[in-house]
Amino acid sequence: MFLYLAYRPFLFFINLFLYFKYPKLILVNVASFLLEIFHVYSRVQTTSYSSELTYGEMSYFSVWTCIKSLKGYSFSECIDLGSGMGKPLIFMSMILNSKFKGIEISPQYVDMSKRLISLLNIKFVDIVMGDMSGFEVKGPSLMFFSATCLEPLTIKKLTSRFLTLEKGSVVVSISQKVGHESFKLLFKLRLPMSWGYATVFIQQRC
Ligand SMILES: C[S@@+](CC[C@H](N)C(=O)[O-])C[C@H]1O[C@@H](n2cnc3c(N)ncnc32)[C@H](O)[C@@H]1O
Repeated sequence: MFLYLAYRPFLFFINLFLYFKYPKLILVNVASFLLEIFHVYSRVQTTSYSSELTYGEMSYFSVWTCIKSLKGYSFSECIDLGSGMGKPLIFMSMILNSKFKGIEISPQYVDMSKRLISLLNIKFVDIVMGDMSGFEVKGPSLMFFSATCLEPLTIKKLTSRFLTLEKGSVVVSISQKVGHESFKLLFKLRLPMSWGYATVFIQQRC
C-alpha cells in the first residue's frame, strides 16, 4: 500500500524534467484527466469486459527513453497498437518528425483521444478504431504495444502481422518480446509505466 502511494509522486518526479522541456504535456494531463471525469459521469456506452482491455499508460519518461535509444533511426510512421487516451503518441509528435497513428478497440478511448487531440490542436496524430492485429503500414515504421494483458492467441496473431513489416522497422513491446528469429533484440530496458516498472523490448525486423 505504501509503495503504491509512493509510486505516483515518484512517477511525477521522474517526468518532471519533461514537463519543463515540453510544458504542453501539463495541458495534456489536465485535459485528459477532465475528459476521463466527464466520460465517467456521462455514462456513454460501455464495452464488455475483457482482461485484454485492462488500462495502463506508458510514462512520458519511458516513451522519451525509447525514442532517445533509437537516435539515428528514421521511421515513415509511428503506430501505437492499443493507443488508449493517445498520450504516448501525442508526446512522440512533440519530439519526432513523422506521422503518428493509434489503433484502439474501445470506442470510449477512441472518442476521448480524438477529443484530446482536437482540444489541444495536436497535428499529425490520427486515431482509428479497430483491432490492433489488423494494422496496415507502409515503409519502415515504429510500432508500440503493451503485451502485459494480451492473450497468447492475440500475441500470435500480432507476431504474424509483424512479419509483414518492412525490414528495419522497430517494435517496442512491453512485458513480452516478439518471439520470432526475424526480430533482433536492440535493447532490453526496465522502465516505469503507470502500473509499475515493466520490461521493455526494442526489436528490429531483419
Ligand atoms: C495498456 S493500455 C495502453 C494504452 C496506451 N498505449 C498507453 O501507453 O498510454 C492497452 C490498450 O489497448 C487496447 N486494446 C486491447 N486489445 C486491443 C485490440 N485487440 N485492438 C486494439 N486495441 C486494443 C485497450 O483498450 C487499452 O486502451
